[in-house]
Amino acid sequence: VFTPVILAGGNGVRLWPLSRRQRPKQFLSLDGEGSLLANTLARLEGLGTAPPIVICQEEHRFLAAEQLRQAGASEARLLLEPEGRGTAPAIALAALLARREGRREPLLVLPSDHHLADDQAFRSALESAERLAGAGHLVAFGVVPTRAETGYGYLQAGEALGEAGFAVARFVEKPDPATAERFLADGDHFWNSGMFVLRPEDYLDSLEALAPAMLAACRGAMDGAVVDLDFLRPDARAFLESPADSIDVAVMERTDRAAMVPLAAGWSDIGSWQALWETLPRDADANVLRGDVVCEESRGLMVHAESRLVAALGVQDLVIVETDDAVLVADRARSQQLRGLVERLEAGG
Ligand code: GDD
Ligand code: MG
Repeated sequence: VFTPVILAGGNGVRLWPLSRRQRPKQFLSLDGEGSLLANTLARLEGLGTAPPIVICQEEHRFLAAEQLRQAGASEARLLLEPEGRGTAPAIALAALLARREGRREPLLVLPSDHHLADDQAFRSALESAERLAGAGHLVAFGVVPTRAETGYGYLQAGEALGEAGFAVARFVEKPDPATAERFLADGDHFWNSGMFVLRPEDYLDSLEALAPAMLAACRGAMDGAVVDLDFLRPDARAFLESPADSIDVAVMERTDRAAMVPLAAGWSDIGSWQALWETLPRDADANVLRGDVVCEESRGLMVHAESRLVAALGVQDLVIVETDDAVLVADRARSQQLRGLVERLEAGG
């Protein structure tokens, strides 16, 4: 049994113009099924989990509440951050809430921006993770890397921990390109999937040792938390005292309790248009066409039309996204660079 903790506080800027500040990607349906958040909740079905804790930004509270209701997860606890401080404090709030509610089972920390093709493989990895977490480990999931991706963390497998997994010899978050190339060539490095299984006590103890100021701020925030309708609001002033950091950098890179369970479940992070193109089924010309799209002599396109007809002729490897108030045309391979473009737009050009 787990307490699921769903992280839904990101901004999803690399999926602009579909993903917007007011409605980031986790609340959108990108693969034609439910929203990424709804898909994450659906993944929990049949796992016999406790009611999930969902953490998102204050400004998205109604979106999140509505999607939880639609997914039949109205028993979920909705924790609101006045402003994101990264995943490390977000998970600390969830761990403190779990402890306050007397929940002893490990937390299953799930980002809300993932696609998993093979539920069965995911489940069996969870069983191994539960065993390792029961022995006090902070458990990550390792995915065999297929490219020198610099947007992920890397886990180096150490000694075997029985049948269940491995100790983590080293954890490196978002390496530079040369280091990522080396990890890929080494053969004993895995991508960190961004999902974790850990007991609340073990995580809080680790923060006490590695990031005491963060823990103190989060404790203060939960001590002053206010329940308002279905929303749980940690004290904003206390929370904003917390340093901003990810669990990867604040804890996983520095702890000696990290363990890894290999995961071969068709995992992908839907972070960019390129990633979405890779994840979705492509037609015979390697195009992913969504909405009202007509395409001739074109290859490798990722096209999304919201409300108007989009036609393409004789072009290759582009992203074309049409929405009400903005149209994106970009080199698909460069969709990681959208972050910079969007930030310049937000700053006023
Ligand atoms: N509540 C909350 N608050 N959620 C957050 C916050 C926050 O401040 N920041 C990020 N999140 C959510 C995002 O919505 C996403 O679901 C998840 O936490 C992970 O954040 P990302 O910003 O997407 O992280 P990343 O993709 O750069 O890196 C992480 O995931 C990679 C795999 O996808 C790391 O764990 C990497 O090591 C890992 O390889
Ligand atoms: Mg991500």
